Amino acid sequence: MKLSGKSARSDALIGRMNLSEKLGQISMLADGLVETGPPGPHNPFNMIVDGRVGSLLNVWGAHLVREAQRKAVEESRLGVPLFFGLDVVHGHKSIHPVPIGEAGSFDRQLWEATARDSAIEAMADGVHMTFAPMIDVARDPRWGRIVETAGEDPLVNAEFGRARVRGYQAPDAQGLMRLAACAKHFCAYGAVLSGRDYAEADISWRALEEIYLPPFRACVDEGVAAIMPAFVDVAGVAMTAHKRLLRDMLRARWRFDGLIVSDYNAIAELINHGVAADLAEAAALALNAGVDIDMMSDAYFNGLPIALARGLVSMDDVDMAVRRVLNFKEQLGLFDDPYRNMAHKTAKSATSKPLAPERRALSRQAAQSSIVLLKNADGFLPLKAPRMLAVLGPLADSPNDQLGPWASAGAGEDAVTFVAGLRETFAQTDVRYAKGAPFEGRDEVDLEAARKTLAGADAIILCIGESRLMSGEAVSRTRPEVPEGQLELARTALESGAPVILAINSGRPLILPDWLVEGAQAILAAWHAGTEAGPALAQILSGACNPSARLAITWPRVTGQAPIFYGIRPTGRPHDPQNGWSTGFSDAPFDPRWSFGQGLSYTRFTRANLRVDRDTLGLDDLVSVSVDVTNAGVCDGVETVFLFSRDPVAQVTRPMLELHDFTKVALRQGETRTVVFVVKARDLCYLDEDRKPRLDDGAMQFHIGASARPADLDRIDVTIAQG
Ligand code: NOJ
Repeated sequence: MKLSGKSARSDALIGRMNLSEKLGQISMLADGLVETGPPGPHNPFNMIVDGRVGSLLNVWGAHLVREAQRKAVEESRLGVPLFFGLDVVHGHKSIHPVPIGEAGSFDRQLWEATARDSAIEAMADGVHMTFAPMIDVARDPRWGRIVETAGEDPLVNAEFGRARVRGYQAPDAQGLMRLAACAKHFCAYGAVLSGRDYAEADISWRALEEIYLPPFRACVDEGVAAIMPAFVDVAGVAMTAHKRLLRDMLRARWRFDGLIVSDYNAIAELINHGVAADLAEAAALALNAGVDIDMMSDAYFNGLPIALARGLVSMDDVDMAVRRVLNFKEQLGLFDDPYRNMAHKTAKSATSKPLAPERRALSRQAAQSSIVLLKNADGFLPLKAPRMLAVLGPLADSPNDQLGPWASAGAGEDAVTFVAGLRETFAQTDVRYAKGAPFEGRDEVDLEAARKTLAGADAIILCIGESRLMSGEAVSRTRPEVPEGQLELARTALESGAPVILAINSGRPLILPDWLVEGAQAILAAWHAGTEAGPALAQILSGACNPSARLAITWPRVTGQAPIFYGIRPTGRPHDPQNGWSTGFSDAPFDPRWSFGQGLSYTRFTRANLRVDRDTLGLDDLVSVSVDVTNAGVCDGVETVFLFSRDPVAQVTRPMLELHDFTKVALRQGETRTVVFVVKARDLCYLDEDRKPRLDDGAMQFHIGASARPADLDRIDVTIAQG
């Protein structure tokens, strides 16, 4: 969006506004339909009439939104409409899998489709901006917000972000942007120390440039409407006040001309960061860094008048922020029709109860595409006509928990649980259920009930992991593990001797004990898979759906391996289990439990004929890397193919693998297809010590295959020769 330009309407309004009305436009306040931060003292509905608020968050639903909007346009002096923001992160009413799960579908079209679907539903509820996508590269499962991310890889986050922006912002029937996207949190929030939420991110410029910034650049190029600075400080500079990154980089270099919206209370929190002495200084720092909207901290409203009097900010800068907000409202069509979205026909059907079948179908497809099969000993799955199934665990029949954190307006009563899904899918089977253990603690552990339920079962489906409250914002965990009470239940299930299918529900790669991984017959990462999680899992277990999802995040064996990711740099003493003087741990393996990209299918794929169309490359050349992929197994299936590069000799150390591209290929049983990746030599550059792109002459490796695990990759080399 281009928001800084002149507009007759905005300029006329600015000319008529007093200071309080201007500051109102750049203040966003929350009402409490949902609590996403510390509640403020405000009663925003009473402030609308005085023009004291320009946008609201956490208010939705036709009734409330209409009432608030009516006050703004009919009762405030200038009649400027409000806009409404909400965290629509993985669905609004139809809830799709949490992002860490859906990222593992590696399906750009799906990422876009679920975003478009969320936008249709949210728009019908009067929402104009979603605080999504969250594209913070995350590599530490202790961090609770890993659930909201697309995982550990910059390219995956960039592609996920692009697809989300396209989906949310896709035009409605009038050609207007449906839901404005707000990419967050700019930047390096995922690098918080020890995974501790809100902590500092003390990282190098190289990590910023190579890991944390590229997803934001991609969203800006895709036309994202807004950006939210992160709560954190990066190398000592609070992001909400980061002039170099916000003004010089985002605005000036990347030419981002949308809105910069602060995080919740983040401007006032500059005082806690120790970079502002009072609200006036905090407000001045944020405004001067380019932040247009103050979410919930009153710093702009109460601090900017003092900052103006002290000469810390200029009225021109205040006016520019106001102009951006007004132009945003104009471009959304809110001046012409403040109720526009809610009047729309599609919008009406989207809010109808029960959820429309096509929305459920999309949620189911998304869940099926996100559930990762991690182990399937002896081809135990799919289940073969079981007579009796025992379902155990606190997540088997817990509709709200399967929706996960940040479930927007998603309602538990719309969700179909695993127990319900299994009963529907295995109609001829006796499906029995006992909870057996609570989420946390041991007080309600009921192993007797579990034993009774599993007696005589052909298989046990063990649904354990995290409740929705155990991941998300402000829930970092030093032990991101399966809690003890649930492990007792797991032991009981394994001791019965019946085959155990472990369905892990979580917002992070949850640490599992070796005995559980070894003892389980099959293991699936079901994440929090949303409204249709139950039928999706049941159809995977029955074989009606062949699993195709992969891990978008490395899964550690023990917490002490974190942060953990595939793109590590080589060391002078590479890991070698035979050599005590090599990198690694003395009390734990070096390798993760499962690598980025791992995930099984009911069929088997082979690769052959890895080739390039040229073996020498100049800086401006393109090279095609191709491989033939065959479905050599027993049923139709979908394979994901990753293309990594590795620069073996450069001026600085380069990661062992860097992802360049990925694709999915659907193959019938016995079918072969050629997958072709086209790579620009220029994209193989790295930044030298002067931060200039550089490519050295010599060998460049391509690694192509099914995951980042060395055993899953084939290699072919080219020569860089720039003449
Ligand atoms: C704080 C979170 O950090 C941010 O992601 C969210 O958008 C806001 N609260 C609003 O709910």
